[in-house]
Amino acid sequence: MSGHYSRKPLATLLAEAKDQGAGTLVRRLGAPSLVALGIGAIIGAGLFSLTGVVAAEHAGPAVTLSFIISAVGCAFAGLCYAEFASMIPIAGSAYTYSFATMGRIWAWIIGWDLVLEYAVGAAMVSISWSQYLNKLLQMYDMHLPLALSAGPFEGGILNLPALLIVMVMSLLLARGTQQSAIVNEIIVILKVAVVLIFIALGWSYINPENLVPYIPDNTGSFGHFGWSGVLQGAGIIFFAYIGFDAVSTAAQEAKNPARNMPIGILGSLAICTVLYVLFGHVMTGLAPYTEFGGAHDKLAPVATAIAHTPYVWLQQAIIIAILAGFSSVILVMLLGQSRVFYSMSHDGLLPKVFSEVHPKYRTPFKSNLLFMVFVGLFAAFVPGKVVGEMTSIGTLLAFILVSVGVIVMRRKMPDAPRAFRTPLVPWVPILGIVVCGVMMLALPWDTWLRLIVWLVIGMWVYFRYGAKHSKF
Ligand code: ALA
Repeated sequence: MSGHYSRKPLATLLAEAKDQGAGTLVRRLGAPSLVALGIGAIIGAGLFSLTGVVAAEHAGPAVTLSFIISAVGCAFAGLCYAEFASMIPIAGSAYTYSFATMGRIWAWIIGWDLVLEYAVGAAMVSISWSQYLNKLLQMYDMHLPLALSAGPFEGGILNLPALLIVMVMSLLLARGTQQSAIVNEIIVILKVAVVLIFIALGWSYINPENLVPYIPDNTGSFGHFGWSGVLQGAGIIFFAYIGFDAVSTAAQEAKNPARNMPIGILGSLAICTVLYVLFGHVMTGLAPYTEFGGAHDKLAPVATAIAHTPYVWLQQAIIIAILAGFSSVILVMLLGQSRVFYSMSHDGLLPKVFSEVHPKYRTPFKSNLLFMVFVGLFAAFVPGKVVGEMTSIGTLLAFILVSVGVIVMRRKMPDAPRAFRTPLVPWVPILGIVVCGVMMLALPWDTWLRLIVWLVIGMWVYFRYGAKHSKF
């Protein structure tokens, strides 16, 4: 019987997986490939842009501690993701998992919330892309007028490069250009190389004076330096880890998932954590943290930091690699978005337009184009920090719901086969809920307000449309 708490049967989900040709996927990914997949989806604007924002406005050199706190929350949630992924081995998402376990209304909330992770997240990376492009152009003495490179809240009219990159990536997606595995691997190598080169070259130019005090004194308001700043910084920098959940969507293609899924998820997280902490340390060691706060530099701190070394000539190459890396993250996020809405539309919760497939390109092209407009508007007009925080709060909520989902599922489907079991249930999920919850609570109140408004709009759409048209 259909109702707000009705669940989508597991058998139906597994049958759909076969229908979509997923049954033909081969188990070919070993642990190293899964780790590489994760790293490819993780390293992006969070590291190369928000590290500067968090250092300048929240934590100073202690941005390294923010990175560590954030990683702990991700690790607990990641273990929960792994159980779902091994049980419902669909190239799906938290939406699919929750429909099978917690019921329709929760699945809706997660699906709606994931727009913040994927669509708004893509906007964030595009804004950051635009800042690095600006830096590159400046090196060739070309200057984009502020009016065309920043939104109205930052003294400009619109962020044109950010809008353009969203359009290019959306059109590529609508056209169905599959990024080949080789291009993907090259980009992963480039990104990791940039991080390693930055750490290695920058290390000997660290000025210890820049690292004192390590945790600057709180300014008197919550979240501005001191421990509350470190915590708020963790909630913001959380953006830098988003993407490791992508590993869970490859559960179907993993060899020996019981062993390799946790290695893939936790391994990519661990490697990124180490890289991030070292990166943050070198960055804040090279330049006083206050330097990263300049209006125009804010989202391109790597350039600001390198200017303090003799390797300024490396800037161009580094920025080009960063731009390439960002492009692939944008593509993956837009793809994730269209997949979630495709599934929701397929289940009747959203109009058909989101699952109509192009006869030739076999892509949900209308959905791609609609999201091009939606994401493009955010990228063109909203400041990067705002979209970054919205993405973080939305994803943190999704992680909490997935953690709750594991506890619920153990009760409701104790005997369903799982290739991987989250250890120490309910403690690991509870710790995931607590750590992610604390990071959410530490985020600024205006970010909460935006989340609440977004969820209220979502409930309105659900009752007006989803609840009436749902197939389950
Ligand atoms: N973690 C991804 C990034 O930082 C989303 O760009």
